[in-house]
Formats: sequence, structure tokens, C-alpha cells
Amino acid sequence: MIIIPGPASPELGRKIANMLKIEVVPVEFKRFPDGESYIRFDGNVENEDIVIVQTTSPPQNERLIQLFIMADNAKDQKAKNITAVVPYFAYARQDKRFRSGEAFSIKTLMKLLEKCGVNRIITINSHNPTILKTFKMHVDDLSAISLLAEYFKKKGFDGAFSLSLGKKALDTAVQANKVLEGGYGCISTHRNRITGKVTIERASLPVKNRNVIIFDDIISSGGTMIKAVKLVKAEGADRVFAACVHPLLIGDSKDRILKSGADEIVGTDCVPSPVSVVSVAPLIAEALAERGV
Ligand code: R5P
Repeated sequence: MIIIPGPASPELGRKIANMLKIEVVPVEFKRFPDGESYIRFDGNVENEDIVIVQTTSPPQNERLIQLFIMADNAKDQKAKNITAVVPYFAYARQDKRFRSGEAFSIKTLMKLLEKCGVNRIITINSHNPTILKTFKMHVDDLSAISLLAEYFKKKGFDGAFSLSLGKKALDTAVQANKVLEGGYGCISTHRNRITGKVTIERASLPVKNRNVIIFDDIISSGGTMIKAVKLVKAEGADRVFAACVHPLLIGDSKDRILKSGADEIVGTDCVPSPVSVVSVAPLIAEALAERGV
């Protein structure tokens, strides 16, 4: 097995390779003055099982094109099997046609990856793993929630209340509570498909004078997390932390979340950022070691 760390995830790719003690084929990468990407593998991939590590957080369109080019290049160079490790899977939220005439974007991406020779995808807390599993390609959707919870436990916050966001997200809080053991809950969120505005359920939560860790898969504009932080603060919570797997943190969302009352924002290196203090490398290395490519 050979790891190819893509231009979007060089550190994560190397960490995984070090953990598995396997060879890395470096990517020579250049961005042309017009913005196009140049990709060259600095090594042989013929007859090898290849693992391309490339997240597709913003600038997602550029990173997706790089992923397609790398996969197709590996196919042209007669790689045996091609696994794409895509820690943050762009467009996963467009997982159906919500309004008539809309594009089913995630389906288009899956088609393109398959055409480029990808046999298997490993991703982390993708927005809708059930949908990803309906396509032909084998998809492993791993969860980094326990790793995030372990981070807080090590910092002395075991016993904190685990709160997750979204109608289908109770399992996230359950996973976190297995580590933190301070009780758990979930609040429903709803996004208006036309305005993009999020509303959250006005739930009464048992958080008075408690430390609370709010878990979400993604923090993008920060709107959902800010509403949740304000809600638990209004319910009398003591210290409140914002934890997410994919810290996209668009614009000034980081400052706005901290201003709304969060003590800290913690994310993973699925998306490299100043808050990405938890590494998903052990999770991915374990999946690759267990199942191969
Ligand atoms: C929604 O379904 C996701 O789980 C996140 O809550 C959402 O993507 C966060 O977006 P934003 O930070 O823009 O509110």
C-alpha cells in the first residue's frame, strides 16, 4: 500500500503513512498563474494499492478537481486499487433534490470519482452516510466524535453534558456521552431552503450550572452553533464548548461563536484550521490496516 498525500492534506497523509509505516509517493504540485493545478507523482504506482488523501473543504472546487486528476493519473499509471480518503466530503449536504429542478450534486461527484478509477472511499462524519452507501462504490464513513470527546476528557471535562445538533444527530451525542458520561441530549435544527436561515428548537435542557460540549458535524457560517451556544447559556450552563469534525469556519464565524459565549472551538484535521487540534489520522490508519484497500 502506498499513500499519496494530496495538496489539500499533506500533513494528514504523512501522519497516516507514518502510523502504518508505509511508503509515500510525494505529489509535485504547482498552481499555474490562471489558477489551474499541475500534478505529478514523484514515484511509481504501477500495480500498487494506492491511497490518495485529499480533503475537499474550501476551496472545494479546486480540491475536487485535484482529486479527480490524481485518481485518473493513478489509473493511467496502472495502479491496482485506488482508495480515496476524503475526510471532508464537499457537496455532501446536497444529498437530494430538495426543490424541483435542483442538482443532486453528491451523485455527480460519486459518478466522477468512479469514472476516475476510485474503488473505495473513506470519509469522516459525512453529512448523510446513508446516501453515500447507495452508490456503487464502497464507502466507509468513520466517526471522529469519540476522538473529540477524548480531547475534552483529557482536559478534565469528563462529566460534561454532550449536546448534538440536528434532527438525526442523537447518535452523535450518544457517542460523545460514552466517553464523557455526563448525560446527553439533542436539539432539532431546521434550515429554510430558500433563505438558508437556521432555526433551532427552543428545548429545555438539564444544563444549569453544567459544563456543556456542543457537537456538530460541520461549522460553516457558524449560525447554527451560535444559536445553540446562546440557548444553553440562557438555560444557565457554566462553560460551553463548540466541537465539530469539520471546522470550515467561514468568514468571521470563529470570532462570532466565541463572542456568543463559547469558551473554545475544537475541530479535527479533516479540515486544516487554527482550531484543528484533534487528528483523525489514527482513525483512518486503523481503517486502512483493518480492511486494506
Ligand atoms: C447541518 O445539517 C449541519 O449538521 C450543520 O449544523 C450545518 O452545516 C452548520 O452550518 P452553519 O455553520 O452554516 O450554520
